[in-house]
Amino acid sequence: MKVFVAGAGGALGRRLVLTLVAHGHEVVAATRSPEKTRLLRELGAEAVVADGLEKASVMRAVLGAEPEAVVHQMTALAAATSLRRFDKQFALTNRLRTEGLDYLLEAARTAGARRFIAQSFGNWNYARVRGRVKVEDDPLDPDPPRSMRETLAAIRHLEAAVTGQDDIEGMALRYGNFYGPGTGIGVGGPLVETVRKGRLPVIGDGAGIWSFVHVDDAAAATALALDRGQPGIYNIADDEPAAAATWLSELAKAVGAPRPRHVPIWLGRLAAGDAAVLMFTQTRGASNAKAKRELGWQLVYPSWREGFRRGLDGGAATPADAGERRTAR
Ligand SMILES: NC(=O)c1ccc[n+]([C@@H]2O[C@H](COP(=O)([O-])OP(=O)(O)OC[C@H]3O[C@@H](n4cnc5c(N)ncnc54)[C@H](OP(=O)(O)O)[C@@H]3O)[C@@H](O)[C@H]2O)c1
Repeated sequence: MKVFVAGAGGALGRRLVLTLVAHGHEVVAATRSPEKTRLLRELGAEAVVADGLEKASVMRAVLGAEPEAVVHQMTALAAATSLRRFDKQFALTNRLRTEGLDYLLEAARTAGARRFIAQSFGNWNYARVRGRVKVEDDPLDPDPPRSMRETLAAIRHLEAAVTGQDDIEGMALRYGNFYGPGTGIGVGGPLVETVRKGRLPVIGDGAGIWSFVHVDDAAAATALALDRGQPGIYNIADDEPAAAATWLSELAKAVGAPRPRHVPIWLGRLAAGDAAVLMFTQTRGASNAKAKRELGWQLVYPSWREGFRRGLDGGAATPADAGERRTAR
């Protein structure tokens, strides 16, 4: 199948391109940076340069590719350094999930693509009531903290637009928190380094439930969604939603860091803001039962426990990455 991937140069995008090429798909990989085109070609894709926030640029790239399926993996979180001022940190990502989504969806429909898959998120955005693990039909948070409202609104926009189409099969994949190469929880990633320095304490009781997914498992699920499953929403997370206090202390062990400290909620709120308090104390996890059942998804890392020990450095996504790694050593 011919697949157009927007956001192909990112942490998930690169692994997705590799996976799609390995499955025999013809991939057109989009990036804003001419410098990244070589890397994308090394992965086996045809590379195009396009800015996801410029409609003419998106239309040109997608119509030129004539894809049968289009995948939206555009986010802009690399510069996000903390959970404070959450909506500000996510502002560009929110534009990519609203304007950027609308442009890409229109381009996909105009090009006659059959299926459209977009990156959504499923963890802190579920309603913080009742069961500890949520399925796709459970409600999203009707009353998020003020600092997270724009981000949740952008997620709602993306999911409604993608799944509300008559003439294209739309799927929104609610990924859990990514870990693995190129992510914040990968070798040298910002969250790992913060934990290593002992600077990420558990806030309150640390009973908030997190869902994780290794980027390679996320890529595999996305590839399966190209020709399996029904239009709609799928949680893409591993088998073991876990309390923040649990995964954080296991991550610390896995990377040789000191045992995380505990701080009271008032101090956590003062230092890290409402979003951090929510994630450490109230968030709910995501069930992957639908994705396993309907997509036939099998995980390489069914639990983050094994993934944190073995999957933070998932090998090189490109020969160039391998070179960079050798130089760094
Ligand atoms: N996904 C989430 O909800 C989430 C939440 C919290 C933390 N994180 C962490 O955030 C990190 C990911 O950072 P990131 O968001 O910078 O992802 P990334 O891995 O760099 O991927 C983002 C992709 O979006 C593309 N992109 C950004 N702006 C674009 C635009 N205007 N037009 C076209 N493409 C555009 C980039 O393309 P170019 O090739 O043009 O650069 C890039 O390929 C990971 O460590 C992850 O663990 C993710």
